[in-house]
This record gives sequence, structure tokens and C-alpha cells, in this order.
Amino acid sequence: MSYSILGAGAVGKALAKAFARKGLEVSIASRKSVEALAPIANAIGPTVIPKSLNDALEAEVILLAIPFATYPEIAKSIPTWEGKLVIDATNAYGVPPEKLGNRASSTAIAEALAGADLVKAFNHLPAATLAQDPEIDGDRRVLFLSSNSEGAARKVASIVEQLGYAGVFLGKLEEGGRLVQAHGNSWAPLIFQDLFRKGE
Ligand SMILES: NC(=O)c1ccc[n+]([C@@H]2O[C@H](COP(=O)([O-])OP(=O)(O)OC[C@H]3O[C@@H](n4cnc5c(N)ncnc54)[C@H](OP(=O)(O)O)[C@@H]3O)[C@@H](O)[C@H]2O)c1
Repeated sequence: MSYSILGAGAVGKALAKAFARKGLEVSIASRKSVEALAPIANAIGPTVIPKSLNDALEAEVILLAIPFATYPEIAKSIPTWEGKLVIDATNAYGVPPEKLGNRASSTAIAEALAGADLVKAFNHLPAATLAQDPEIDGDRRVLFLSSNSEGAARKVASIVEQLGYAGVFLGKLEEGGRLVQAHGNSWAPLIFQDLFRKGE
């Protein structure tokens, strides 16, 4: 599978580090040129490939580590999202719920990226935590997953297991997803919960 991270800030770099830790190839892109991204990617590891946004959008799996407000623009960047698996790590902190038609923030993104399977993940942990190795003495850091597609959630569970996490499926975006999102100027109960699954 091919992977791209959109966003090379605190979260984008932490996610790239997780792939690099396991020697998995991943592209990283932002509005910066490939030349400007190269030192950022090189500092993380040799499996992190700087790309233009257009090239990064060709990946099968796209991780969103960009400001929430940019999703309408990202949605228009490719002619179709059909067949893409999108992992949404964004938080709509500070966005009034009415602006999203009272939908969960990931529902708003999923509707804009019509045709893609979207799984909400990684957003509940601070970037500094995401940058750490999720495996500690055989225990695995928990990542909450929510999606309207159980098949897509299973695929992402397998990806995050490869990265060293323990995926925990919370249900659909309007149910489980709401437990783990920013809501206006407040945070839902599972945000910032840093849990571990004990090693067997
Ligand atoms: N910081 C945290 O602890 C944390 C934790 C969990 C989730 N989140 C969420 O994760 C997302 C990223 O947060 P962050 O802290 O990593 O933010 P950040 O450090 O400000 O990084 C944002 C990145 O997005 C890129 N970007 C901005 N607009 C873009 C566009 N239109 N197209 C492509 N790339 C664009 C920026 O690069 P250019 O300016 O070069 O384009 C930058 O690399 C946010 O939605 C945030 O709510 C943050």
C-alpha cells in the first residue's frame, strides 16, 4: 500500500516518524516545495519521501495532518476520491458546530471527500505523544478509530498495529467519532486519553 501524509507540521512529522520507525515508506507534503520539504523529511529518516501535494495525493492511503479549515480546498485537489482510504487526524477546535451543520467534524470531511473511505484516528493524542514510540515494554498505546465503514476501520487498525499501536474501534463517525473530537471550544471525553493495551 502507498501512504502519504498531508501536512508537515507537528502532527505530520510525528506520523512520519511512526512510519520511519518501522522502515515503512511514506510521502510527506504540504504547500511547500519538494526542495523545502526535503530537509524536514531527511531529518526524520530515509523512508520519508518529500512530494508535491499533487504527487502525494496519488497514494492509496492519505493521512490528513492539516488544519481542519483546509479540507474544502483539499477536497477539490483531485477529480475523484473514489477508492482512497483517508485517515483524518484533524481537530476542528474553535469551529462553531453550527458552521458544520451540527455534523461531527469528520462527517463534514467525509462528505467533502465523496467516494473515499474515511477513518478518524490519531487526533486524540497531542503531537508530542504521537512522536513517541507507541510500544513500551510490550504494551501498546491505544488509538481510537471511528468510521462509517467497518472494513476501512479494519484496514486502518491493521496499519496502526504495524506502527505499534493498539486500535480500538469506537463505531461510526456520528457516534464513536463524537466521543473523540473537538466540539466548538470544548473537547469530547476521549480526547487526550492516553491509554495502553497490556502486552500478552
Ligand atoms: N498539535 C497537536 O498536538 C495535534 C494533535 C492532534 C491533532 N491535531 C490536528 O492535526 C492537524 C495538524 O496540526 P499540527 O499541530 O500539525 O499543525 P501545524 O504544526 O500548524 O502543521 C500544519 C501543516 O499543514 C500544512 N498545511 C496548511 N495548509 C495546507 C494546505 N492547504 N494544503 C496542504 N498543507 C497545508 C502546513 O504546511 P505549509 O504551511 O507548508 O502548507 C503544515 O505543515 C490539525 O487539524 C490539528 O487540529 C493537532
